[in-house]
Amino acid sequence: MTGRPGTESSGVPAVTRVGVIGGGLMGSGIAQVAAQAGITTIVRELTEPLVARARDAIRRSLDKSIEKGKSTADARDAALARLAFTTTLGDLAECDIVIEAVVEDLDVKNVLWRDLNAACAPSTMFASNTSSLTIGAMASASGRPDRLVGLHFFNPVPAMRLVEVVRTITTSPETFERALDFVRQIGKQPIIARDGSGFVVNRLLIPYMLDAIRALETGVGSIADIDAGMQLGAGHPMGPFTLLDFVGLDTVQRVAEVMFDEYREQRFAPPPLLRRLVLAGHLGRKAGRGFYDHSTNPPVPSALAV
Ligand code: NAI
Repeated sequence: MTGRPGTESSGVPAVTRVGVIGGGLMGSGIAQVAAQAGITTIVRELTEPLVARARDAIRRSLDKSIEKGKSTADARDAALARLAFTTTLGDLAECDIVIEAVVEDLDVKNVLWRDLNAACAPSTMFASNTSSLTIGAMASASGRPDRLVGLHFFNPVPAMRLVEVVRTITTSPETFERALDFVRQIGKQPIIARDGSGFVVNRLLIPYMLDAIRALETGVGSIADIDAGMQLGAGHPMGPFTLLDFVGLDTVQRVAEVMFDEYREQRFAPPPLLRRLVLAGHLGRKAGRGFYDHSTNPPVPSALAV
């Protein structure tokens, strides 16, 4: 990690206090890396049991990095000491940056921005971790369209180095520089993305996964052969169906629908087989089955009547 006191090249002061809204899968990961980078971090969840869940998840993740030899007990304890949890939005008032990682629902996020705008100091910068919504759709609700960016982290946050930094047409140059600096400060690699649904990575990855399903539907190859083909022939760490099951088929369908709605291009349209699997509750690894049956180790390809 690259905890960095003082200032960096852009001349803006380093972030010393981060707020994270939502302590689920992504929020707990973001809070963990911020705390590990030496930044005071405060996580807001909705209820005390959800706060406890977020705290436990971060502690487990830090313990795991010790087991893997990537961290030490002292570093874990120091990171935990920099973390605070709350159910009260007002406790984030003095943060330099607040990152939201709540459910992927524009109405929920926009209610939150309105409340945050009222609660936070005028200098607080806002960032959304949305994976499919356009950042511009939150700009006016935030009340500070010049100080809002997208910071799109990847799952699992502690392990994935990339963060897409998304500038809207109203983001100020100062805010954008500050966002890039912050990403570097927490030891991640930023790339700059335009505010179009899917940004860079999902814009390329979602049609690729949908194409794999179409290839299966039209009999180009089997699940196992398409996966082996992309793994061994294209050097991917896993094939598209393994990846689909990992991401979750409902998530892929939802993101594809948002992107299809934005671009109206065939390549973003969810194929019928994806819809059928989602309807059947075969959502991938989290449901025990999707394109693979995960009840066995290793998982075996599902027998799909296509
Ligand atoms: P999640 O469902 O694991 O966590 C969301 C959390 O937000 C829940 O714990 C919920 O209690 C909390 N929450 C909801 N409303 C809240 C509020 N008003 N204040 C405080 N907490 C609130 O969801 P996940 O997967 O962490 O996703 C969060 C965001 O990150 C979404 O926008 C998603 O699109 C995005 N994202 C997800 C990725 C993934 O792989 N899961 C990857 C990149 C981005």
